[in-house]
Amino acid sequence: MSIRLSTGAEIPIEMHKARMVQKIQLVPVDERLNAMKEAGYNTFLLQTKDIFLDMLTDSGVNAMSDNQFANMMKVDDAYAGSMTFYEFEKAVADVLGYKHVMNVHQGRAAEHLLAKVFAKPGGVVPTNYHFTTTKAHIELQGMQVLEIYYDDALKTESSNLFKGNMDPNKLKNIIKKYGKDKIGFVRMEATTNLIGGQPFSMKNLKEIKQICTENRLLMVLDGSLLCENAYLIRQREKGYENKTVAEIVKEMCSIPDLYYMSGRKNTSVRGGCIATNDSKLFELIKPWLPVYEGFMTYGGMSMREISAMSVGMREMVDPNVAGCSVEQIKYFVNKLAKAGIPVVTPPGGLGCHLDARKFLPHIPQSEYPAGALAAALYIASGIRSMERGTISMDRDKDGKDVFADSELTRIAIPRRVYSMSHIEYAIDRIEWLYKHRELVKGLKFVSEPPVLRFFFGKLEALDNWGLDLKDAFKKELGNA
Ligand code: F0G
Repeated sequence: MSIRLSTGAEIPIEMHKARMVQKIQLVPVDERLNAMKEAGYNTFLLQTKDIFLDMLTDSGVNAMSDNQFANMMKVDDAYAGSMTFYEFEKAVADVLGYKHVMNVHQGRAAEHLLAKVFAKPGGVVPTNYHFTTTKAHIELQGMQVLEIYYDDALKTESSNLFKGNMDPNKLKNIIKKYGKDKIGFVRMEATTNLIGGQPFSMKNLKEIKQICTENRLLMVLDGSLLCENAYLIRQREKGYENKTVAEIVKEMCSIPDLYYMSGRKNTSVRGGCIATNDSKLFELIKPWLPVYEGFMTYGGMSMREISAMSVGMREMVDPNVAGCSVEQIKYFVNKLAKAGIPVVTPPGGLGCHLDARKFLPHIPQSEYPAGALAAALYIASGIRSMERGTISMDRDKDGKDVFADSELTRIAIPRRVYSMSHIEYAIDRIEWLYKHRELVKGLKFVSEPPVLRFFFGKLEALDNWGLDLKDAFKKELGNA
């Protein structure tokens, strides 16, 4: 939550205390430059010994609660029929309202199964926005992803509170153009990851569902960041201000035909699940679960993680959990915006997203401004962020770069991990970098895998700009 100080200022306040901690270190800027070079200017390839604040992602790195750890000790390890799974099933029924659930080892495993079972080769999957792994699995099944956001959703600086909405008219046009038989399913992602964790409204979810029902199309909800979306609906959508996050989550989940999530985000564990109230749909997916994941009552997850996930599922609708990152992000984004730094607004539910095209207007998309900004931020601060731009898009059939709609550098905020002083430090170093932005130049690929190249691709800095940036930093701030 956030709290109003006697001065009138509003700050995010942590509604938890740390009783177990992990030491982190800030290696000197000389070492940071070397680490960045060794990692091929790709923040995925850094080692955590060289990282101060790991803001690469909020996936699998959230703080777990005392109750989650406690429940991990109380586990029924069985290949089949484990009571730990049934405890999870009960948590899903209570929190999300679904009768049927299966675990999978993480979100993309759910995407694999759904894309496989509901594949319409040669067909399409309309979505409010794609996620990298989602797109890969849909394309591997011979389908194409169609993004049908409202026209202004990609405007980075905006006052549109629901940039994650799907445009119903575009959906109707797609149905006309391709025919319903060519539509695998319609996918809504709760807080659209790649455009800055932007939520959709409940009104929009219902509107899209109605079109799906009228055309007998399957609607799938990716609820990896369900609770952040619900928290933002509570803050932003008329009629929901007096509802609890738990009530909003239940209402959201009552709308789609199928639900899946990465449990690595909202439930703060390492796993995932697919859930539904439609037993026919469930039975279509179920036979494939043991082929790719594991038996019905573990689905590729360890029982200890499932046990922690049951608790995480119940805790994620606590507004102090659902809103913890959201409030930190709001503070972070608003402070940067006030300082004139190009950042995605309104603040979303995943992290703070710098608009690299505006931050580094001298770098063309062919030289990957968002990747360069992520590398520069690491050199200037030891903070690990992530490129979400053209490097995150794979090349087309002819080997040409596919320029991303937006060039964002994502500074993710894991749940209940970092404190206000960490956020203040990040703001300070981003401001320093902005003042020295002309020192940052582009990147060029040195080696590049054929799929999801952002994970393993290696790049180099044009004109060795890392050295100039490091020297400027050292001159002003020392070797810190
Ligand atoms: N859907 C969304 C919206 C996601 O954000 C992610 C993962 C997935 C699906 C895939 O889930 O990682 O458990 O297999 N997002 C992570 C991120 C990787 O860093 O944003 P997964």
